[in-house]
Amino acid sequence: MSDAFIIKGPNAALRKTKRSDIAQYRKWNNPKLKAWSMDAPWSEYDLIALINWRKKWLDEGAKLPYKFLEIEASDGQHVGWVVVYHDYADPHMTEVGIDIPEDAYWGQGIGAEALALWIQYLFETMPIQRIGFSTWSGNIAMVKIGQKLGFLEEGRIRRGCMVQNQYHDRINMGLLKEDWCFPF
Ligand SMILES: CC(C)(COP(=O)(O)OP(=O)(O)OC[C@H]1O[C@@H](n2cnc3c(N)ncnc32)[C@H](O)[C@@H]1OP(=O)(O)O)[C@@H](O)C(=O)NCCC(=O)NCCS
Repeated sequence: MSDAFIIKGPNAALRKTKRSDIAQYRKWNNPKLKAWSMDAPWSEYDLIALINWRKKWLDEGAKLPYKFLEIEASDGQHVGWVVVYHDYADPHMTEVGIDIPEDAYWGQGIGAEALALWIQYLFETMPIQRIGFSTWSGNIAMVKIGQKLGFLEEGRIRRGCMVQNQYHDRINMGLLKEDWCFPF
């Protein structure tokens, strides 16, 4: 697959990680960014393992299958990434994630579009019937994205996390391939 690999939507695009992105990841490795108060804020913050994963993948020849892609806004700015992983290496437990550390780009529809492009790509390229993600009740934007893309709430662990001294629910959302309809 060439470096030119890109999946384009009207306002966002997904492309392969480049070596020059590592500097951006280092910039994002900052606990003060707003994004990290929203993405699993109860867990220990550190992007080093993620940065090393990117570097290893580049060093090994940037091969398929893509487990992560970078998100670009329509002005070409690299704003974040999408990722896929499997619980217990089981393809039936496919989970996705999205992070846009550049919060100046929030609320413009980039998150919903980037995740939709990623889901479309994964359903087209992987023999899977379901995609899920986990979030928490305080992450309203992520819950809304899930609802917008047709995910259903499949599980709610009430008071399953505490953020800024307040209890919140942990939420699992899931989407079956037969219910998927690319919305953009
Ligand atoms: C979650 C995230 C990807 C959303 O990206 P985004 O580009 O702002 O999302 P969108 O612009 O597509 O907005 C999605 C919906 O959430 C709403 N929304 C956005 N920010 C919001 C906020 N702070 N409060 C309430 N609603 C919000 C939007 O209005 C939109 O709803 P609508 O379609 O009904 O208008 C981004 O905020 C982010 O990276 N957060 C930090 C990392 C994170 O939490 N990742 C998810 C972990 S589970």
